[in-house]
Order: sequence, then C-alpha cells, then structure tokens
Amino acid sequence: MNNRRVIVKVPASTANLGPGFDTLGMALSLYAWIEMSAAETTTFRLYGDQMQGIPTDKSNLLYQVAQLVFEEAGVSIPELDIAMYSDIPLTRGLGSSASAIVGALAAANGLIGSPLPDHKLFQLATKLEGHPDNVGASLFGGIVVSAWDGERADYVRLEPHAKLETLVAIPAFQLSTEKARHALPSQISMADAVFNVGRSSLLVAALASGELGLIRHAMRDRLHQPYRAPLIPGMSAILEHAADYGALGAALSGAGPTLIAFVDADSKDKPQLEQFLLATLKQEGIEAETMWLKPSAEGPVITVEDAASPAPGLMERIKGEVVR
Ligand code: HSE
Repeated sequence: MNNRRVIVKVPASTANLGPGFDTLGMALSLYAWIEMSAAETTTFRLYGDQMQGIPTDKSNLLYQVAQLVFEEAGVSIPELDIAMYSDIPLTRGLGSSASAIVGALAAANGLIGSPLPDHKLFQLATKLEGHPDNVGASLFGGIVVSAWDGERADYVRLEPHAKLETLVAIPAFQLSTEKARHALPSQISMADAVFNVGRSSLLVAALASGELGLIRHAMRDRLHQPYRAPLIPGMSAILEHAADYGALGAALSGAGPTLIAFVDADSKDKPQLEQFLLATLKQEGIEAETMWLKPSAEGPVITVEDAASPAPGLMERIKGEVVR
C-alpha cells in the first residue's frame, strides 16, 4: 500500500479583476488545508463551518478529483483517508471550489510522487471548473492571466506588486456561480467587447509594470458586472466610488457576491474605505464581513510525510494559521 501522507495548503482566489472575465485571477492569503493518505476504507474528516453539507462518501469532490489524478498517472488507490479544513467561505466569489479542486489535485499527485507536471494539473483543473481564472490563481499563486478554448489552457503568471493589498467585503448571503452566470446575456455589442479588451489589456499591463495608478481606470467592465449588479444591492455604488475613498480600484470578486478593492498597503485611507464598503452595503440591508487580504505569491504548499510516522491531527497541525 502507498505509504505517504500528504498535507496541502492551498490559497483562495479572486477572479475576473473587473474586465478580465474568465481570464484573470489572483491568489489571496486565505487558505484551505487538505490531508490525504491511502487507507483500508475511505474516510472523511471535514472540519469547520465551510464543510457543512459536503458529502462524506465517494461522491465527494476531493475523492473524485484524486481518482482522476490516479487514473491519469496509471495507478490505483481506491481507498483514501481525507481530511479538510477551509477558511474560504463557500459560494461567495472567493474561489472555494477551485481551491478544493487544486488542493485535491496537488494532494493526490503528491501522494504518488508528483508524476503530473503543473501544466497537466492546470488542464485538469480548468476542465473540472469550466474556466481557468480561479484554478490558475490557486495553482500558480500571484496574478494569473489565462485563456482556455475548451481543449487547452494557457497562462502567464505575474508577480503581484509588493504594495498591493486587497479589502474584501463578504456579504452574509450566498450567490451561486450558476445563478450569477445565468444573469449574463448571450451576446454583447462590438462596442462593449472593444471596451473590455481595452480595459483588460490595460489592467494586465498596469499590474505587470507596477503602474498602480492606472488600475482605477483599467478595472472597469461591461461584460458581466452591469448584469450582475441587480443581484448585489450596493455593488454599483461601491464600484463607482471606492476610488474616492482611497481604493486603487474595485470589482466584483468572481461571480460575487463578495466585492474586492485593490489598495496600496501603505494607504492612510484604509479605515475610511472599509467604513464606506460596510456602510454602503448596510444601507441596502446587507450585513457583510470585511477582511484585509494580501496576494498569495504561492500556489499549493505540499508536505509529504511517511504515513507510518506519528502525526498530529489536521486541526492541531494548522491551529496557529487558521483565521476563522
Ligand atoms: N469567471 C467566473 C465568473 C468566476 O465570473 O463567473 C466565478 O467562478
């Protein structure tokens, strides 16, 4: 029997960054942890609020993803012991499902000696998620620019600017990606397409060259945010005015409902920006939690151990790192 135990720490992510719908993503300093080893019988230990309602049989996403890796690598490990804890809120637009997919891919690959290269894991993750933006960010860390044609995903990773920080406002309600995608039109005008090509290109160039002052103009979008705004009361006002309160720019995080502001880490305006976001949502009757998050420079951090060696439980192991 396979004699390894693998622990993977995987970051959350924000997708789109405004105009880069299904294309741009950035990893964030909010994490999930997955522990995996071969077992006699499949068992799950799922900890924390984010794991409620997650299946604990072989229909579990982590199990399914792991089996895909084994199949791809031509090995058989039908029974697994899987533990998971996540600080990443579910269905809020912070890439929780992408983190689970990437974490499970990395854990299963690590368990069998990492035969699959990252590029292959990216292809598998993109296919599973249906778009490359969140999975690319969780897999490679930093800012990831990606494109997928349904067959092949390509990407370039950018190092986030050292001064870049983010403020997320996470509304108390959930919004499924499916519902938020359903709100989108099937066709858009040439003028809106050109608008977005311009903004998205400008944003990538600004992030790559460190011209943070351009972000507020580059983060504008006509492809998805205007259509999703009715689902998130307060969103339009926040996107329009966040820069007046000191943000470098603001966007809907992924499919929402979380809103994300990019901020200069040294800005003195951070408290007033946080207040503006919370007050604007509150005016609409929406309670929200704010978090200051840094870009996460790394993708999954993998620890491989001898399964026979004594080990603390997952929660004991990560207790100094969890935030919730
Ligand atoms: N690009 C995706 C969307 C991210 O906006 O629908 C959410 O998973």
